[in-house]
Amino acid sequence: MATTAHHTAEVIDAPEEANEVALTEIPPARPVPSLLDDARNGLLKKPRSIPPKYFYDGVGSQLFDQICDTPEYYPTRTEAALLEVHSDEIVAVARPEEILELGAGTMRKTRFLIDAAAQSGTLTSYAPFDISADALEETGRRIVGDYRSLDLNLLVGDYLAGLDNLPRSDARRLFVFLGGTIGNFEPAAAEAFLAELADHMQPGDHLLIGMDRVKDPAVLTAAYNDAQGVTAAFNLNLLDVLNRELGADFDTGRFFHRAVFNEALSRIEMHLVSRGKQRVHCAALDAAIELEDGETILTEISRKFTDQSIAALMEDTGFAIERHFRPANDYFSLVLAKPR
Ligand code: AVJ
Repeated sequence: MATTAHHTAEVIDAPEEANEVALTEIPPARPVPSLLDDARNGLLKKPRSIPPKYFYDGVGSQLFDQICDTPEYYPTRTEAALLEVHSDEIVAVARPEEILELGAGTMRKTRFLIDAAAQSGTLTSYAPFDISADALEETGRRIVGDYRSLDLNLLVGDYLAGLDNLPRSDARRLFVFLGGTIGNFEPAAAEAFLAELADHMQPGDHLLIGMDRVKDPAVLTAAYNDAQGVTAAFNLNLLDVLNRELGADFDTGRFFHRAVFNEALSRIEMHLVSRGKQRVHCAALDAAIELEDGETILTEISRKFTDQSIAALMEDTGFAIERHFRPANDYFSLVLAKPR
């Protein structure tokens, strides 16, 4: 299917009373920096960095899925278990008519929520919002048969810049932002995004947000240094993305993966470390990147929260926490909040 704007199509082979599947492009409401902009700003001066959103090309998305299955990477299965146990209560509080998921990805955890909401009888539509039209269409194909009474409204775009252009709706909405992705943003960016989201929510709407928690640093660092090396491959794949998209000549064999816990900033930091002094050429930037031996490129931060920092973040951005779910081991938080 082509990604035509505001295109609505009946599902082929759907039963008579079937739902609709619509794919809608949500344009950014303000300029979004391109990869070229981000590379120019991040790679040509020290300390070097590149935003983590570029991890997720086809290969990167597959590697991320594999990370979620490693024994060390606890967030996905911990959050899924919380959703499995608490979906009924979440649905009872939020009574959603529409579930709008930010950064839906492969959607394996949201099912618990959709099932509970569909069973409660209030839910009429599920709207995953994701940058990848391919991922959305695959999700749509995969779940359409399971939820015949639901409209599937696939929203393609950058949710960080596109909230202003979301379709208006009178439906009571449950916004869902899972995975701890809010932790991939610097504090100011995370706050700006949540404040903007609160601003877009109507009275009666809710936000369900997942946040990873501070814990034993050994557990944290293991989660980002899995023994099979999947996270290392995921990190190094970013260099393939830069080579392909920007005509760079990074030699992946001359970098290695490093993930450390920065206690002071309460965050995991992932780096690509240069093996030896080297010069990388980037055609699109028409520039050379000169790296010292051991010099690093910061590719991701993943912030870890406490009850206090969660309460402060929600409070400061205009939310009131209604429920806060934690597992017995305290590894991860799922927070249900409403705009104040
Ligand atoms: C699920 C996107 C938040 O920060 O833990 C996993 C991404 N990076 N392993 C995270 C990730 C390395 C992940 N997010």
